[in-house]
Amino acid sequence: LIRKVLARQVLDSRGNPTVEAEIHLENGTCATAIVPSGASTGSHEALELRDNNKSRYGGKEVWNAVGNIKKRIAPELVGKDAANQAEIDRILIELDGSKNKSVLGANAILAVSLCVARAAAKAIGVPLFKYLGGSQAITLPIPFANLINGGVHSDAPLDFQEFMIVPKGAPSFKEGLRYGVEIFHTLKTILHEKRLGTGIGDEGGFAPSISSATQALDLLLEATEKAGYSPGKDIFYALDAAATELYEEGVKIYVFKKSQNIKLPPSHLVELYRELSQKYPLISIEDGMAENDWEGWKQLTQQLGGTLQLVGDDLFVTNKEFLKKGIEEKVANAILIKVNQVGTLTETFQTVELAKKNGYRIMVSHRSGESEDPFIADLAVALNAGQIKTGSFCRSDRLSKYNQLLRIEEVLADNAIYGTEF
Ligand code: PGA
Ligand code: ZN
Repeated sequence: LIRKVLARQVLDSRGNPTVEAEIHLENGTCATAIVPSGASTGSHEALELRDNNKSRYGGKEVWNAVGNIKKRIAPELVGKDAANQAEIDRILIELDGSKNKSVLGANAILAVSLCVARAAAKAIGVPLFKYLGGSQAITLPIPFANLINGGVHSDAPLDFQEFMIVPKGAPSFKEGLRYGVEIFHTLKTILHEKRLGTGIGDEGGFAPSISSATQALDLLLEATEKAGYSPGKDIFYALDAAATELYEEGVKIYVFKKSQNIKLPPSHLVELYRELSQKYPLISIEDGMAENDWEGWKQLTQQLGGTLQLVGDDLFVTNKEFLKKGIEEKVANAILIKVNQVGTLTETFQTVELAKKNGYRIMVSHRSGESEDPFIADLAVALNAGQIKTGSFCRSDRLSKYNQLLRIEEVLADNAIYGTEF
């Protein structure tokens, strides 16, 4: 039973304030959880409550959310059973009462929701992934590692946000991680030699002075081969275009503002993706179209959905209502899962269940603003997602997840499976 619920303001990987919750159980167990924060957020995400006092931390403090945990949530949860996640999340949702968790703040609610699960797992001495996923939780995810950061995550003149390598051909997570890390180090040497800059963006990927997707993918190809791996066999590639950031809704045009100021109608953007997928072993494109461009999304899915994984991030915001619409309108074929987009663990599980039932693939994801908390590593295994997106191979906010997956793979030993079928 829950004895005490505490909360505090801590800092995320961008140096912005975020919420940490701490829960104590009657039996002496104690657990904490820190919530992440996005930059290229979908407009239908659950609300992240900020204080907006511009004179402190640029208005980004979260003392109101922290106060809501201490004063409003804590009294409701003391004495409740931490092992009953669904009941705890129901209480949190009802206490907030709004559609987008704007009353207490999704950051307050999620911190508690995650923390309760962690405390309950700890109390019975079961690893978190097993507590959440049971004996079926045996799939180690393929890392989609964002080695080149563009869009709103870096100053590189690149409009697409993420250029990822996917070590799908590796025999295990541990080996996939090694392939990826070796390519990361090789890419650094290449960028250094070409004088393109080795500075990094928000997710630990490089932010070189290049301005097109082909340049980025050529660099990834070169690094892959130079590191001794085979593109299209060991290593594949993936994009997060984060196209919502490029879309001018009034005129229905995508504008590449950071690079050459190119303007493309949706149909030409689809053609660009087709060309890229013919030229490179590309297997997945996330947010290829904007969250409000459902027509564009339909075109994209009709034309490329048979051969590529098309992941909805801003489009679905981990919310089963938006996913339902996607299923009905035959849009996308995979969903990105970010716990803070929806705000509780129970709702996350419901969305995943709906996705799986309808043949949509799952990719568990970090946010661009992260912390040392590795919760999503356990979550990815618990959900048998088969895919995780948690950044590049430097900065401990990203590596904490990879390191946790190494531990989980060790626990599962011979029972572990690596990745998903494409
Ligand atoms: P965000 O970026 O956390 O800034 O939203 C990640 C993504 O778009 O997938
Ligand atoms: Zn995205």
